[in-house]
Formats: sequence, structure tokens, C-alpha cells
Amino acid sequence: MESLPAKTMPANAEAIAQAADLLRDGRLVAFPTETIYGLGADARNGKAVARIFAAKGRPRFNPLIVHVRDLAEAETHAVFSDAARRLAEAFWPGALTLVLPRRPGTPLSELVSAGLDTVALRVPAHPVALALLRKADLPIAAPSANPSGRISPTTAAHVAAGLGQNIDLILDGGATPLGLESTVIGFDGDRPMLLRPGAIARDAIESVAGPLAEAGTAIRSPGQLESHYAPNATLRLNAREKESGELLLGFGPSLASNLNLSPTGDLTEAASNLFAMLHELDRQGPRIAVAAIPETGLGEAINDRLRRAAAPRTNHA
Ligand code: TXA
Ligand code: MG
Repeated sequence: MESLPAKTMPANAEAIAQAADLLRDGRLVAFPTETIYGLGADARNGKAVARIFAAKGRPRFNPLIVHVRDLAEAETHAVFSDAARRLAEAFWPGALTLVLPRRPGTPLSELVSAGLDTVALRVPAHPVALALLRKADLPIAAPSANPSGRISPTTAAHVAAGLGQNIDLILDGGATPLGLESTVIGFDGDRPMLLRPGAIARDAIESVAGPLAEAGTAIRSPGQLESHYAPNATLRLNAREKESGELLLGFGPSLASNLNLSPTGDLTEAASNLFAMLHELDRQGPRIAVAAIPETGLGEAINDRLRRAAAPRTNHA
């Protein structure tokens, strides 16, 4: 493993208190959530939020997810329909992000919404994220803590390697349990629609909300750029075997894989391993082949990330 720079601290009470002070000062703190590591700033402070875009090298202002302590706090920032409240009650705290109309008078910076009249909200379940939200006592805007367009971070070491120079503190809470970003749901009136598949599978959402509307071709979730989550290596999908010069990322009882997302074919395990294994193979060589992943359950989100990682690169990395 890479050695960590000094600004990484184990996420104990003292480090969380320091992180809370930094956030109140408008500085940037990376912290673990149950999905991936986030790069956090005070969501009410436009200058602090702007630092997030600068640190990630985002080419333009994609809207950010605002993390809050609970549903009651979320309702002070956005207008919840009955359908939205039902989803929040079912899945918060957890890996669900809801995109909702901004409540007039919310102190959230306009920049977190990138000029839209909506805001993305999530109550994370990770104890470190919740402790930080309580201690700092402010809403935290946090995209994934990786350089724009690159693989999302599931460990503090990934964050340090990608963004270490640009962050004031990294709270190390170990590897993130889910390993895949939250599921993002928007609304067409009262009808929920899937803006980004993620760590909560479509079936689970539909069991609470009914059938999801398709988001359509208009990019309702502006972060959903075609090329994203990209390693330096090229990626070949649905590989049946390794070609010469390739490293193989397997799935299921396989093949001569270099790493295996889940030897037993468990999609939850595969989701939690996806980004960490892509990071690892990316360090080992320039060509990665990936075995086919079924499109069911969490496979929808895993395949979404793999297709983006394999897409022709746009120059926003
Ligand atoms: O699990 C996660 O969601 C992680 C952790 C840190 O919470 N965060 C994360 O953030 O993945 P980010 O910025 O990498 O992705 C946020 C996604 C993007 O696709 C963005 O376009 C979408 O949410 N989004 C945010 N605000 C939106 C809005 N107002 N309308 C539509 N889409 C929005
Ligand atoms: Mg991201």
C-alpha cells in the first residue's frame, strides 16, 4: 500500500472534532461514507464549495450532493412530496440520494445546485459521516473524493493518492462497506425516476416507490458524463478470457483472473470490490479485461460504471 501523507488521521473523536473545525472555516475534508469517500465542504459557503470543484479539477460545475443528519434537516432545504418522504423514510440513513426542489430561503449555496432549482440530498449511514455532520453542525456538500473523471475512492489511501495535495484533512475510516456510489432518484411530478443506478438496487427502490420512470435522454443528472470513473488503463468488457498483455478482472468461478470481483458471483461483494480492484489493476498494467457481469440487481450499477470506465475518453479527467 502507498504510505499516507501526514494529513490523514484515523477517524477518532479528536480527528472528527478537527475536521468539524476545518469545515466551519471553509476548508476541505475527505471522509468515509458507507458508499465511497466524499470530499466535503460547508454547503452554505459558496467559496468553500468552489474549492471542491478546484480540488477535483471539475471542468464545469456539476451539482453536488448535500449530506445532512436526518430527514427533518433535509426538509429545511428542499420540498418533499409524499413519494419523496416515503423513500427517505425507507432508505435513510443510507445510500439513496433524492433530487428535490430547493426550499425558498434555504441557506445552501447556489453552487451546490450548479444553478438548477433542485438540490440533491442524502443522509449517510456511516458512523464517521454522521459523527462529522453532528459535530460540525452544518450541511456538507460532498462529491466523490477523486480527481474529476477518475475512479471513485473506497479507501483513505485512494483519496491521498488522487487528491492528497488539495485537501486539508483526510479522515481514515477504513474501506467503505458498499464501495459504489448512492442511487440517485429524481422526480417527474410525484413520479420517481432513476437518475443514477447505485448501491441500492432498482428492485428495492421499486418495492417502496412503484415502477421508476425512465430519466429520458435529457441528461437530468449532469454528472452522468459518458466517460467517467476512468482508470489510466484501457478497459475491455465482457471478456471471456485474457488476451496477451491484459490483466483480467474476473467475476464468478473463473478463468485465470488476476483479481476477482466475487469468486462466488455475489453482486454485493462485487460492488464493494469494484473500484478498489480497478485502482489496483490500474497500478499493475495498461490493459484491463473485465468478465461479464449480469445486469440484475446491483449489476445494473456495476455495469453502468464499467461502461463509463471503458468509454472513449473526453478531456475532462
Ligand atoms: O455515494 C455517493 O453518492 C457519494 C458520497 C460521497 O455521498 N457522492 C457522489 O457524488 O457520488 P458525485 O458528485 O460524484 O455524484 C453526484 C451525482 C452526479 O451524477 C450529479 O450530477 C447528481 O448526483 N446530482 C447532484 N445534484 C443534482 C441535481 N440538482 N440534479 C440532478 N442531478 C444531480
Ligand atoms: Mg463522482
